[in-house]
Amino acid sequence: MREQKEQYWGKFALTYDNDQEYIVGKPILQAITTKLHEECDLGEVIEFGCGAGYFTKVIAEKARHIIATDLSDRMLEVARVQLQKFQNITIQKANCEDTYFPSRSFDSVFMANLVHVVENPMNVFQESHQILKNGGLLLIVDFTGYGMNWFERMKLGIRYLKKLGMPPRHSRNKLSPDQLVSFVETIDFKVEEARLLGDKTKALYLRGRKA
Ligand SMILES: C[S@@+](CC[C@H](N)C(=O)[O-])C[C@H]1O[C@@H](n2cnc3c(N)ncnc32)[C@H](O)[C@@H]1O
Repeated sequence: MREQKEQYWGKFALTYDNDQEYIVGKPILQAITTKLHEECDLGEVIEFGCGAGYFTKVIAEKARHIIATDLSDRMLEVARVQLQKFQNITIQKANCEDTYFPSRSFDSVFMANLVHVVENPMNVFQESHQILKNGGLLLIVDFTGYGMNWFERMKLGIRYLKKLGMPPRHSRNKLSPDQLVSFVETIDFKVEEARLLGDKTKALYLRGRKA
């Protein structure tokens, strides 16, 4: 299963950022970028599922150091090239559902568009909780069909199929802010903010704190 997933994402590594822009559209990517720019002082950051590094770039100036991780070697190769000018980013392979990082070692955990593709998001939140320092920040961005009208969802689905084919079996595509809040609260995060961003296409934005 892990190899299948790695292969699936690896196939799109070279074109992923452009594919993503085509599928969800520039306005939602801009809305996420603007919101991420409001963050400050993220400290020592671990990013899960960095892909080709689209949002890693955006948070780079807000962090002392980022370890950007992904399951796919090919995504990491592309990220390594695209992020080479950033002195404070290290790229490493890791499975976010079962990492090897020591407990309480990060100030922030960041994940963009990962929750809807992983097999078991609760494992990812549990792992995040374990490797965050007390008071550490869980920062989640995730595209969702929740709040989109039927017609826009269909159009987005067609654009997805055209670029990336059938999505992985366990993909979830209509997560609401309330559902995401209840997931992370189960793992003992205190949610500071949870909202829906975007107009025609949408993304969840959540900030949670390890107590
Ligand atoms: C939808 S892409 C998002 C990439 C990037 N965060 C972005 O928003 O542009 C999902 C990424 O998560 C990675 N991924 C999927 N399952 C993973 C896992 N269990 N551990 C680490 N990375 C994973 C994939 O390889 C892929 O690069």
